Amino acid sequence: MPEYAFVTGAERGIGAALVRQLLLHDFTVIAGTYLKEYDEISILKQTYPDRLYQVELDVSCEDSVRNASNFVSGITDSLDILINNAAIIGNKTATITDAIDFEGIQQVYNVNVLGALRMSNQLIEPLMNSGHKLIVNISSEAGSIGQCHRTGWFAYAMSKSALNMQSALIHNQIKVEGGQVLILHPGAVQGRLSGALNAKSPLTPDDSAVNMIKLILGHADYMDQHPAYLNYLGERQLW
Ligand SMILES: NC(=O)c1ccc[n+]([C@@H]2O[C@H](COP(=O)([O-])OP(=O)(O)OC[C@H]3O[C@@H](n4cnc5c(N)ncnc54)[C@H](OP(=O)(O)O)[C@@H]3O)[C@@H](O)[C@H]2O)c1
Repeated sequence: MPEYAFVTGAERGIGAALVRQLLLHDFTVIAGTYLKEYDEISILKQTYPDRLYQVELDVSCEDSVRNASNFVSGITDSLDILINNAAIIGNKTATITDAIDFEGIQQVYNVNVLGALRMSNQLIEPLMNSGHKLIVNISSEAGSIGQCHRTGWFAYAMSKSALNMQSALIHNQIKVEGGQVLILHPGAVQGRLSGALNAKSPLTPDDSAVNMIKLILGHADYMDQHPAYLNYLGERQLW
């Protein structure tokens, strides 16, 4: 019986690397891609024409998420793993004594928090109809209140804290039927969240994804009353 996974924000970076790892582990993968400026998924499609699907997806838009959910129903009635990876970062410099871009913060919330909620909400039925019953929310150490050291990053850091709370609320509901939410911090990864490639970060997307896939496939080891909040090495993060 094939196992299915959906990854949001899949056209580049960590999302594309997670798609690659899932394919290597024999999953059939649905890759939600946003602007299609990168060709990582179309290149992978050449190697995995029967196990990789691509669907256009803007997680900030309810219709787009519904369209992606219908796309999934057209392929399978059981979705093992949903990885909510899509995110944007917003302003990183403003502190409480600066002018704050509230609209910008709302946009970040709409993608990072509500985007994941839209996806989990639309796909909960096939998820709970599957073997793994797993939602993976790609969060960040920036969402940890207990280890917060920043004075800015209002949009991103608060959005990841809210994503962590969302994870706990969903986990509480689905754990009674064997479902689980896992919250992962991918590490400091060479990505384009801030625009240009952050080549100084120590990890490549593949480094991070190789580690995260072990945690994802071993998710049962982390099943507990609350969702596990782990970094890519499996180390627990402070809430
Ligand atoms: N890189 C790090 O060091 C780091 C650290 C901690 C956590 N994370 C988390 O890891 C995840 C991936 O980050 P990354 O470094 O791979 O960043 P990235 O390269 O910027 O990838 C983010 C992806 O999300 C997509 N996206 C943006 N808005 C979207 C929308 N409205 N709907 C659907 N997709 C959308 C982007 O699409 P476009 O390409 O079209 O813009 C992009 O493919 C994020 O959740 C991030 O918060 C990253």
